[in-house]
Amino acid sequence: MDPRRALSFGAAAEAYAAARPSYPVEAVRFVLPVGARRVLDLGAGTGKLTSVLLDLGLDVVSVEPDDAMLAHVDPRAQALQGTAEDVPVEDGSVDAVVVGQAWHWFDQDAAMASVRRVLRPGGTLGLLWNVIDDSAGWPRALAEHIGMEDRLSLVHEADTPYDRAAGAWRRQLFRHEQPADADLVVANMASRSVVIVLPEAERTARLERAREIVPTGHFTLPWVTDAWVTTP
Ligand SMILES: C[S@@+](CC[C@H](N)C(=O)[O-])C[C@H]1O[C@@H](n2cnc3c(N)ncnc32)[C@H](O)[C@@H]1O
Repeated sequence: MDPRRALSFGAAAEAYAAARPSYPVEAVRFVLPVGARRVLDLGAGTGKLTSVLLDLGLDVVSVEPDDAMLAHVDPRAQALQGTAEDVPVEDGSVDAVVVGQAWHWFDQDAAMASVRRVLRPGGTLGLLWNVIDDSAGWPRALAEHIGMEDRLSLVHEADTPYDRAAGAWRRQLFRHEQPADADLVVANMASRSVVIVLPEAERTARLERAREIVPTGHFTLPWVTDAWVTTP
């Protein structure tokens, strides 16, 4: 993965916080072990997943390298600057590590070593990705125009997020919807690394064309959360 893109999100932190979807609570429950109390949200960004975990009554540590993203994290969480490769959390101290839309940005061997270090025995690693349902209509045209990678048409049964000695994965898809209008969709597109790293004129043109693809008025955006869990 392009390291420039991995650490690009802070430049669009406001748009990210305002326009990216949350995660369905059933998907979050799916990746947690029974009786979980303390959970690490790794690559927490603006805290979309953190907020769902907090609302479940969990103690949450949110680790994220980018200060501009971290500034948006719900103050009920313990927000720490750090990376998946160098996690500022004690050994064996969390019941689960969850990663929303970020595992693909990590050095996966180093991240898995961190996960194994911080998890208590029997703890779980949960990976979640929100992908747009691009099976029909304007969402397909939009995903193609932007070059979105997180889209349902690229989700396959044979996928595996990490296949080197990570234990058996369980996987489930969860459909959800986000109330939206054209401004929100354009802000969502502006928060994507593939757009953030474009030269300014190109970025503006890409987003203007995106606006032409999106309907006017209010509608719902169709998302699917692709959720994975293992006991590493
Ligand atoms: C697409 S955002 C996802 C944010 C949040 N988890 C969510 O679900 O909305 C990806 C995040 O991963 C962070 N990130 C990139 N490389 C990282 C690394 N090596 N370790 C930890 N976080 C990283 C970025 O700064 C960014 O905030």
